[in-house]
Amino acid sequence: MWGGRFSASPNALMQAINVSISFDKRLATQDIAGSQAHAAMLAKTGVISSEDEAQIQHGLSLILAEMEAGTFPFRDEFEDIHMNVEARLRELIGHTAGRLHTARSRNDQVALDFRLWVREACDRSAAQLADLQRALTAKAERHAAVLMPGFTHLQPAQPVTFGHHLMAYVEMFGRDAARFRDARARMNECPLGAAALAGSPFPIDREMTAKALGFDRPTANSLDSVSARDFALEALSAASIAATHLSRLAEEIVLWMTPQFGFITLSDAFTTGSSIMPQKKNPDAAELIRAKVGRILGSLTSLTVVMKGLPLAYSKDMQEDKVPTFEAFDALELSLLAMTGMIADLEPNTARMAAAAGAGFSTATDLADWLVRTLDLPFRDAHHVTGAAVKRAEQLGVDLADLPLAELQALNQGINADVFSVLTPAASSASRVSYGGTAPDQVRAQIKRWKDILR
Ligand code: ARG
Repeated sequence: MWGGRFSASPNALMQAINVSISFDKRLATQDIAGSQAHAAMLAKTGVISSEDEAQIQHGLSLILAEMEAGTFPFRDEFEDIHMNVEARLRELIGHTAGRLHTARSRNDQVALDFRLWVREACDRSAAQLADLQRALTAKAERHAAVLMPGFTHLQPAQPVTFGHHLMAYVEMFGRDAARFRDARARMNECPLGAAALAGSPFPIDREMTAKALGFDRPTANSLDSVSARDFALEALSAASIAATHLSRLAEEIVLWMTPQFGFITLSDAFTTGSSIMPQKKNPDAAELIRAKVGRILGSLTSLTVVMKGLPLAYSKDMQEDKVPTFEAFDALELSLLAMTGMIADLEPNTARMAAAAGAGFSTATDLADWLVRTLDLPFRDAHHVTGAAVKRAEQLGVDLADLPLAELQALNQGINADVFSVLTPAASSASRVSYGGTAPDQVRAQIKRWKDILR
């Protein structure tokens, strides 16, 4: 491509470090789309003839067909996807192929291709997050009133419902999807036409190519156009946060699957056995999802360090943007699909969950609240009386609900038998009717809201 200035071939190591076709072939369809829009614009503005454009468009459609058929020859000697396409175009239509690169550089070409790829990845991730939210919402609806312990510090805290717990993740994944939509809106400006770095002397129509490629507008500074990769950093940040949420849910599935918790069952479809221990049923998919955040956050770190300190405009360092970004989105998408499958698959062991919901004096706060409401005790005093009741129940080896009334009256004479109506996990959860609380009716209201959003 630059034989005019060069007379010798590159050293083999030069080629080895420079070549990118092995990974940037993933930009093939974006590269063709960019070239189709560019050629149409060059003809419309009279920079090339319509006959030349017709030939170029024909050649590009042949190349696209070869790519779809898997017969396109990706060749190392042509370095990257842009030059592979151009070299093939020349083989197919002859010297007219050379007119396609008028008013364009690989710098704005790669900026465009990569932006298109990241934009699609954001759209896919947002859609897959919505699928996961749908699976969670469906499961939550079926188990809106199933009691389970709510934890703080992983210690029994207050009873909640399984539906409520699942809907907490629907909120998180909803914000994750919104982050991808925000990033998409910000990146949706077209860098094509910035050329190498300074713009073009040809009468190009950047509005036209921007519109053809689904962008809101062209980018407004040619130096920034070829130098910016913050759209990818932003997408990777959104991916990292989503992966963090996935890892938290994955960790809970791992915990719930243990015989010690025994809260859920996963079918054989989402578990593996052990080659030595016949009794094992391992939640490998959940463990791998828990781990993927390492790779995804690693990609964000990797690209951030690549971009840090780079002077304007394009530097070849930026070729290192692709592998981490591809890797991160591959990992995120696989995690989202596997998690969606696992959520649909898992079944709660409701009796076991309900029994655990009452363990660990989880209705102690309800006793304290009853003392405040019924006997008008200041909350701090009620907290103290309740602490003594828990201590006494512990000594007697019984739950709070099974403490004899006389024992409670020994702590405060005003206590009567009505107190037992608030000491069961079901009563505790049903009482938490504040907006967003765990009362089954509140949970169902949030499920309905999300079903409308996700429809
Ligand atoms: N393969 C290059 C990349 O991925 C394309 C841009 C090359 N531009 C250049 N001036 N060498 O960044």
